[in-house]
Amino acid sequence: MAIFSPALEERFRKLLEAYPVKRSALVPMLLYAQDELGWLTPEAISAIAARLELPEIAVRETIGYYTMLRTQPAGRYHVQVCTNISCLLRGGNRILEHCRQRLGEGPASEDGVFSLEEVECMGACSWAPAIQVNYDFFHDLTPERVDRILEAYRRGAPPQPDASYASNAATTAGQAASSSNGSSGAAAKGPSGKEGA
Ligand code: FES
Repeated sequence: MAIFSPALEERFRKLLEAYPVKRSALVPMLLYAQDELGWLTPEAISAIAARLELPEIAVRETIGYYTMLRTQPAGRYHVQVCTNISCLLRGGNRILEHCRQRLGEGPASEDGVFSLEEVECMGACSWAPAIQVNYDFFHDLTPERVDRILEAYRRGAPPQPDASYASNAATTAGQAASSSNGSSGAAAKGPSGKEGA
């Protein structure tokens, strides 16, 4: 049974044509695969390693380095809460505890809508405390604003983020590929037409 969709296979093919060194396609391929599957399954990791002619352990080491890559199932909306120094000083722990109370512990909430993860700096220190939901960033948070944001996602009406990776997976993968330090820093403003929160 095929692991990846035909559309994703085509993206992989184009990526492998674009990079003179196969290994350079690793992070974009992992991001594309995660976007499609929800997480990096053992089968997906093996398949990508084989295509890039890499030992599987090299792929797993890369996954371990980047916080945005995961080897466990996640909710439809993956909430990352920063508790590094700037966020810590501005109430990041309170935000994390609030999210734990709202979403519970573990990789995914009971209804599968959310999963929660504590992370290191996400490059939004100037606007701490910050969270990231999938590819969207929310800044200067209070527990009350977190409630409004989570409620909007739960309603299926994602709020307008303060900053966002482009929702286009190709752009996202390209940004990750060009990043050499693993920081996920906020990028361009998100798409318009979303609700404020
Ligand atoms: S310390 Fe939280 S975004 Fe940098």
